[in-house]
Amino acid sequence: MGGSNKPELIKDGKRLDGRTPDMLRDIKIEVGVVKNAVGSAYIEWGNNKIIAGVYGPKEALPKHVQDPERAIIKCRYAMSPFSSLEEHGRSGPNRRSIEISKVTKEVFENVILLDRFPGAEIDLFVDVLQADGGTRAAGITAASVALAASGIPMTDIPYAVSVGKVGDMLILDLNKIEDNYSDADMPVAIGPRTGDIMLLQMDGNLSRDEIKKGMEMVKKSGEYISKLQKDALKLSYERILEKYK
Ligand code: CDP
Repeated sequence: MGGSNKPELIKDGKRLDGRTPDMLRDIKIEVGVVKNAVGSAYIEWGNNKIIAGVYGPKEALPKHVQDPERAIIKCRYAMSPFSSLEEHGRSGPNRRSIEISKVTKEVFENVILLDRFPGAEIDLFVDVLQADGGTRAAGITAASVALAASGIPMTDIPYAVSVGKVGDMLILDLNKIEDNYSDADMPVAIGPRTGDIMLLQMDGNLSRDEIKKGMEMVKKSGEYISKLQKDALKLSYERILEKYK
């Protein structure tokens, strides 16, 4: 956000990486990249590279964390020490990664049928191998696919993306430089089936009208992101079926 020596983020209506304001970066999703996990997914979202892995449901330990009514989700988002030029990741969790772990977990508390697994825990790991802005959104999008692949029952497959503002122009899916120098950044996660908003954070200021327009951009891009998530899942099932032919 802000800062001196601000680069010109928009020139002739185009962004530094050539995108128009409402354009997503390239996204690729692959299912089943971690053999030991019950569900996993790898996402490349622009220059972000992220792996999500799911373990469980299994008995929640230590016992005092158990909820006799439902499963608990333990979520750990982490950036690898080599994921960006900034220094981090060397001393374990930090304020930012604890926050992102928490909001990611809360997204999935909306959709996983936790009461099917009393006393259990579901472990969700989001590991950022390469970071370039929007890792919480990309991580949630990948985690959603990993959870769906795990077969853990869910009512929806959420996606997430950020919308922000440079000057008075709204831009979708901020990369790191845009994130650093933008006037606002609002990551959002939505369940496409219900339209429920499961994450909404905001750095900077957006007017009521800008939020409305921003949400429209998010939802429009969400149709595409959702399709990529489902296509990745379908492909993984087709690959399994191939083996039994
Ligand atoms: O990744 P996201 O946009 O969800 O989170 P952020 O806290 O707004 O960080 C924006 C970007 O800054 C990240 O995606 C990383 O590329 C970079 N960053 C970093 O490299 N090291 C950090 N400790 C924090 C952020």
